[in-house]
Amino acid sequence: MDIKQIRTKARELTKGFCRACPVCDGRACAGEVPGMGGTGSGWSFTNNIIALRSVNLNPRLIHKVHYPKTETEILGLKLALPLMIAPIGGIAFNLGEAMSEAAYQEAIAFGAVDAGIVAGTPDAVPLEVMKIGLAQAKALGPGLTIPFIKPWELDRIDQEMEMAREAGAQVVACDLDSVGLITLRLMGSPAMAKDTVELEKIVQKAHRRGLKLIVKGVMSLKDAKAALSAEVDGLLISNHGGRVLDGAPGMAQALPRIAQELKGRIPLLADGGIRSGVDILKTLALGADAVMIGRPFALMAIGGGREAVAFLVNTLRSQLEQAMVMTGCPDVAKADRSLLWPEED
Ligand SMILES: Cc1cc2nc3c(=O)[nH]c(=O)nc-3n(C[C@H](O)[C@H](O)[C@H](O)COP(=O)(O)O)c2cc1C
Repeated sequence: MDIKQIRTKARELTKGFCRACPVCDGRACAGEVPGMGGTGSGWSFTNNIIALRSVNLNPRLIHKVHYPKTETEILGLKLALPLMIAPIGGIAFNLGEAMSEAAYQEAIAFGAVDAGIVAGTPDAVPLEVMKIGLAQAKALGPGLTIPFIKPWELDRIDQEMEMAREAGAQVVACDLDSVGLITLRLMGSPAMAKDTVELEKIVQKAHRRGLKLIVKGVMSLKDAKAALSAEVDGLLISNHGGRVLDGAPGMAQALPRIAQELKGRIPLLADGGIRSGVDILKTLALGADAVMIGRPFALMAIGGGREAVAFLVNTLRSQLEQAMVMTGCPDVAKADRSLLWPEED
């Protein structure tokens, strides 16, 4: 598959919405929300890239790691590598007429499973967007997507969780940080921040149905501890691709402090600015158990459909394997700060 050709096609199809830049770093699309950019100055998006770039791996060559193990399991989900595709919704107003919402969600969800991982499906003000993602979940079979639910009023959360359960979900997520989305506000959305008592109620709604709940948008140790005490099942360290708060830290700045206190007590996922297998390994070394990637997969889906999505997953897997050999890391489960440069004593 020719990534250059896919990118060129995606650039043509998303003209006016995404420039399909050689490096997807939020500079050209700063402030374009709706669109593919980060909110305001675009700094929080770009900060994800800069923060990760400033982390370095420690080359180690005297060892016996030839075929490192990338397979893992998170919250009962078996993954060929610690990667999931982040949900991207509202294709029409974020990416124009490049692709229908249904064709997009199908390419992402099926491409992910073809390559041995899973994708998140989005939620939006029109319930139709969630229904489209859940249709993919049903077609794929139980436990092969993660439906994301926005922090609506509790009744709508209840309704959407029931829909997710019926579609065969085993893990759901709530992107708490989407209260900052301009797009939802423009549509008069009732998405609102939740206190611990409300979060506990959301957790109970999930657990009552046998669903595990990931909370997305956790960037501080205080929120991480509050979510843990509300008994959520997983944390997704994310600034929502820089789309919700200008001037936020990059994911790689927020993750280490949370991991230092909570690693091993609750699965930690992270996203924002991850662009290569090297970036995946850096994020694992900083303390994540698995990562999510958003925009680069959107371009693959639009430029080359399901096959291109699977192709990118496989490319990232080979890059990850190469980085693991070059750092002497035998197993993704063993990735930790010892992989980072400078070496700690
Ligand atoms: C156009 C667009 C739409 C998005 N829609 C959603 C969504 O519906 N739900 C959600 O939880 N996150 C959404 N996100 C955030 C992504 O899931 C993810 O957190 C972010 O894109 C990760 O950063 P990356 O694109 O640099 O990999 C969206 C992001 C973009 C760019």
